Amino acid sequence: MQILGISCGSPNGNSEILLKTALLAAASSSPTVTTSLVSLQSLSLPTHAMPNDLERPLGLSSPSILASSPIPDDRPALVDAILLADALIISCPIYTRQPAGLLKAFTDTALGPFVDAAFVSRALKQQATGIARFNDYVKDYVPDERVLKNRVVGLIAVGGATCKEWGALSLPGLQQCVFSLHAKVVDQVIVRGCPFPGSVLIEGVGAVELAERVGRSVASQVGKGYEEAVYLGDEGSCPYCHLDLVVLEGKGGDGCECCACGAKGKLEVDSEGRIKPVFEVESSTSVVTWEGKENHMAEIEKAGKILRPKMGTVKRKKEEFDKMEFGKIEFPSQRVEGT
Ligand SMILES: Cc1cc2nc3c(=O)[nH]c(=O)nc-3n(C[C@H](O)[C@H](O)[C@H](O)COP(=O)(O)O)c2cc1C
Repeated sequence: MQILGISCGSPNGNSEILLKTALLAAASSSPTVTTSLVSLQSLSLPTHAMPNDLERPLGLSSPSILASSPIPDDRPALVDAILLADALIISCPIYTRQPAGLLKAFTDTALGPFVDAAFVSRALKQQATGIARFNDYVKDYVPDERVLKNRVVGLIAVGGATCKEWGALSLPGLQQCVFSLHAKVVDQVIVRGCPFPGSVLIEGVGAVELAERVGRSVASQVGKGYEEAVYLGDEGSCPYCHLDLVVLEGKGGDGCECCACGAKGKLEVDSEGRIKPVFEVESSTSVVTWEGKENHMAEIEKAGKILRPKMGTVKRKKEEFDKMEFGKIEFPSQRVEGT
């Protein structure tokens, strides 16, 4: 069983130290576990659209940038490593209350919809039954079946602040990077109060212990399917993603939604007068559930059927926008030689 560790922080920094700690704990708790580590900051990860079968229907195609980009692209190799792995441990610094943008940028161009388990599963089913849906607009699309394999995940967020509010969006953000894969998060921790490279190693901070726990949790669940794998982390209000970020219905309504995964719920008052969110027992909207993912696929397919025939009506208007010119700022990378 292969566990891939992904560090999103500075080289030899706190995220990397905690990742190494988690990987060591995983390897020493199971003889069948092998580990590898990549550091995002040491890779070349351009932010333009990656050559991908899905780039055109998702509107991400930018052929001129692709053709002229002198930047080497490590993203396909990293996606390959992710798809080969049975488990992922992602360790990431908190920047401005959220996970490091480098991880989000990689997700937006290489993970997310490009490795969407519900999309791949739907494509395989439709192709097997001869429905040409994908051939309409994705020539030669070959769904990658590795997306569908059992995969569990451990998440570590590390920040300098000691208070909760400066890390509130970190785990919700990290979960967004893996839910498309339908990979089960089996443990997730926030390590607080570590502002300097190496401060995670100060005794009494508790950082090493938390990272070791994540490593052991992942090793104990690796190889299991989404339903079978057990969540071993701290319990949050939401029974699906186990986090505590809630969107209120507003305007006096008592409805609420888990901001991290989309499960629907209601605010209820318990016997001691405390207001709590109570989430649906069988969610059809939580993006971490299979039903939530399938419903989203059905919804975008339906929207596509309604919108595609209307696209001809906006062609001319869109061309006008394409040609529009505004005041230009000169950037070094766009300077033409000899001018
Ligand atoms: C731009 C920037 C923003 C930061 N924002 C936060 C923050 O919102 N909350 C927090 O707890 N720590 C914040 N930090 C501190 C880092 O998360 C902390 O130093 C972390 O240990 C760095 O991880 P690394 O050593 O793996 O790079 C920030 C650091 C930087 C450079």
